[in-house]
Amino acid sequence: MKNVLMKCLMALWVAAGLVSCASGAKEDATEKKIDDLLRQMTLEEKIGQMNQLQGVGYNEDMVSQIREGGVGSILNDLNPDTINMLQRVAVEETRLGIPLVFARDVIHGFKTIFPIPLGQAAGWNVDLVEQGARIAAYEATSVGIRWTFAPMIDVSRDPRWGRIAESCGEDTYLNAVMGAAMIRGFQGESLSDPRSMAACAKHFAAYGASESGKDYNTTNIPERLLRDVYLPPFKAAVDAGAATFMCSFNDIDGVPSSGNKWLNIDVLRQEWGYDGMLVSDWGSIEQMIPHHFCSDLKDAAHKAAIAGVDMDMMGFAYITHLKSLVEEGVVKESVIDEAVRNILRLKFRLGLFDNPYVAVVDTLPFYQPASLEVAQRVAAESAILLKNNNVLPLKSFNRVAVVGPLADAPKDQVGTWCFDAEPEHCVTPMQAIKERYGNKVVAVPGLTYSRDTNKQGIAQAVAAARSADVVLFFAGEESLLTGEAHCRADLTLPGAQTEMLKALKATGKPVVMIVMTGRPMVITEEVELADAVIYSFHAGTMAGPGLADVIFGDVVPSGKLPATLPLMTGQVPVYYAHKNTGRPAADMILIDDIPVGAAQSSLGFTSFHLDAGDSPLFPFGYGLSYTTFDYSPVTLSAAEMTVDGTIEATCTITNTGKYDADEVIQFYIGDKVASVARPVKELKGFKKLHIESGESVTVAFDITAEQLAFTRLDMTRGTEPGEFDVWIASDSRGGEPVTFVLK
Ligand code: BGC
Repeated sequence: MKNVLMKCLMALWVAAGLVSCASGAKEDATEKKIDDLLRQMTLEEKIGQMNQLQGVGYNEDMVSQIREGGVGSILNDLNPDTINMLQRVAVEETRLGIPLVFARDVIHGFKTIFPIPLGQAAGWNVDLVEQGARIAAYEATSVGIRWTFAPMIDVSRDPRWGRIAESCGEDTYLNAVMGAAMIRGFQGESLSDPRSMAACAKHFAAYGASESGKDYNTTNIPERLLRDVYLPPFKAAVDAGAATFMCSFNDIDGVPSSGNKWLNIDVLRQEWGYDGMLVSDWGSIEQMIPHHFCSDLKDAAHKAAIAGVDMDMMGFAYITHLKSLVEEGVVKESVIDEAVRNILRLKFRLGLFDNPYVAVVDTLPFYQPASLEVAQRVAAESAILLKNNNVLPLKSFNRVAVVGPLADAPKDQVGTWCFDAEPEHCVTPMQAIKERYGNKVVAVPGLTYSRDTNKQGIAQAVAAARSADVVLFFAGEESLLTGEAHCRADLTLPGAQTEMLKALKATGKPVVMIVMTGRPMVITEEVELADAVIYSFHAGTMAGPGLADVIFGDVVPSGKLPATLPLMTGQVPVYYAHKNTGRPAADMILIDDIPVGAAQSSLGFTSFHLDAGDSPLFPFGYGLSYTTFDYSPVTLSAAEMTVDGTIEATCTITNTGKYDADEVIQFYIGDKVASVARPVKELKGFKKLHIESGESVTVAFDITAEQLAFTRLDMTRGTEPGEFDVWIASDSRGGEPVTFVLK
């Protein structure tokens, strides 16, 4: 038996060896083809490959630029006939027939829109995230898009920043895992499959750390923090095979990413061995001028080229100046060759040389029932139950009032940055609830949009509430209040929404508030007022049915916060993986408890805000269920481990309530003493499991040296011996730690 097993294993190893040899050989053959092409290309043709232009349809000017070999890629052309016509010019009318690659922001769906990435992260369901990206690729490639500018894996700890919507939130590990899932989904099993799109890990790097949450702003990140918090999702993207990367707009320590040789070459290429392609962000090369980093466009082209930026997205710097920079000996032609090599490699990997055209079909594979089903599931799984005074799930009622500005706002529920969404294909909560309960529903918006301050409609909504047994108040933000360049300094509900909630509450009817938004908001007062609260990041095409599933109990909520909800805006940045101070919060005397005229003293002072204390409204990882879960104490397989060993941490989770439900079991580690102060804890793993009512499940997580590694005082990455705390819990605040020692 043992022999048979060995033989099988040998066969598998041999086969695996052959497979990897075969793919290595394929890569060698590709590199040879790239060499051959490079030998034949003129300098102008090489620089043309490095130029990415905005699509303008089949336009004479564009056609002649392509014909002259002046364009490598086009973004935002979406008509398959136009794409094929332009491609034909590149393939048949240029000297070397190098195909174009067509790109688009397909961030959280192409036509079938999934929740914004922050919402997908809130579902903590890696498989569903991968499926969503696969569906997006299936839809977008059908019109000829073979390159998406996603995933965005910028760790963001500042909800003022509008682009937190596009990220997977505040945590390094969650961004890494979700980003890798999206990459797998977009790129499929093989990039050369016409149904696969090249992914783009963006924005490299630290864009999410923009100061004061204002877009494009400078960042203040020491290299250690950069390496430990902001870069790991990008390293994970390299490991997941991301075909492309995009520069970020911000500077790090004064150096804009599009001119950052250390980041793009030393770290990305040399340390991580990345051989994909790096594109600038829109105009980010040119924008190094107002950044006060470059004197003019020529200087910008120079600095970007030597910093390893392969393609210039709509900056016109390369196409205008690279030739003379090479001729003047300022930029070596070998630098250009390297960039073109990366671009051609992408085109070979996409199979564009063999298969440059998109098949034009009569029926495009949009909104297929199976895709909508996945979208509905993700919408439901990403809903986070924050409070429930025995109101939810709604089971028996005679009349339900559906009110609020987000109840029937299809354009808003799709969320930010989805240019191809078609609101007419969205199912809103109001539609979904009417579909279920028809004449039991009374629907009055009260406010027509989230910023609406005209209170005249509120009276009608209140009348509707009075006539009902229960009120569903759909509040939140319009999609346009998040996304690029849409940052806010005040995170509270805009418009007259809070007043509307107060008026609804005054009816004495139970009020369920459903927040549909693009960011973590400050809803402290509203959570007090409402009887139940569901938090939903703009959940896409099927937001309505997904939320209805949760409200009426077909799906038991399992979403968990991917970012902390602050108690008040002034707490920001507030995140769970913070460092302790030398005086952690204790003995807090809050503003109203300070006696008038009290003397200043320096004793007992600890770290907190007088008006907010030291806790957020809800911590990272938080989310309730209709059932309850009991976590046993954590046990470790050993009290000590060595760097080459592992310990297993286990915990038994029992569903102690009445509903079968999913639970996101979270695994955190904290380093107690190190050569530099470490975060109090960091997420190192999670599992989303279905646990039936009454059932107990024992969950195990391996502790490995890699999880304990960090950037040490001497800037090397590795572990240090000492004590570590381990938690297995339902959120980042829960559970009692157990300790082990790394020898
Ligand atoms: C954004 C990128 C996006 C690009 C192309 C830029 O403004 O920062 O994330 O991919 O535009 O649309």
